[in-house]
Amino acid sequence: MKWSPGFFDRMDAAPDRFFYGAPRLVTHIDDDAIDAVGALYAELGLSGEILDLMSSWISHFTQPPSRLTVLGMNRLELEANPAATVRVVHDLNADPALPFPADVFDGAVCCVSVDYLTAPIEVFRDLSRVVRRGGPFVCTFSNRLFPTKAIRGWLDATDEERCGIVRRYFEDAGTWGEPRVRRCTLLDAEGDPLFGVWAFNTKGPASCQPPA
Ligand SMILES: C[S@@+](CC[C@H](N)C(=O)[O-])C[C@H]1O[C@@H](n2cnc3c(N)ncnc32)[C@H](O)[C@@H]1O
Repeated sequence: MKWSPGFFDRMDAAPDRFFYGAPRLVTHIDDDAIDAVGALYAELGLSGEILDLMSSWISHFTQPPSRLTVLGMNRLELEANPAATVRVVHDLNADPALPFPADVFDGAVCCVSVDYLTAPIEVFRDLSRVVRRGGPFVCTFSNRLFPTKAIRGWLDATDEERCGIVRRYFEDAGTWGEPRVRRCTLLDAEGDPLFGVWAFNTKGPASCQPPA
């Protein structure tokens, strides 16, 4: 099934360096949602060499990995990230290819940012090149966003549909195992909801290898 026309369009189609030129040293989700992200990372045992994609000054690990590469648009935000060991400024919408060699990461994460990708399938596929086989990619998101920079298909979707969109990114990439989907905050909780969609790297069709 094809993505509908205009799905990846954005209100602000200008290069992302303009919007992200000034640092935003803020939190984009509340404390309970941040705790839920950290709990999911801990449950999935993210450790070793980890890539935090579309990162800023906070990476949400309860126990930061021994080596954390943060990739984002704003150098000052990345420099303020106390968990980071390597900082890389790279615009994934200008170039979805990741500036790393193959098989260098034990896992990857992306928090409250997947909705800004205009070529997500290419990014998800290239992630499976740089993450070692069997490693996870964990995408978490809430319902707050920069509306001018989010893709139209995401703005038009419900929370449930957004989980389905990220699931399909994994599936369309063709290099990840069966995606898992979870609401990580309680349904009746006040505050920001937090959803997680993740899969393990097969580097090939989902059916070819179970997670390590
Ligand atoms: C809502 S913030 C989330 C930051 C962080 N992940 C967090 O959990 O607080 C969105 C982040 O996505 C990054 N981002 C947006 N567009 C990007 C792009 N085209 N390439 C790489 N990173 C991008 C920005 O640098 C920004 O810090």
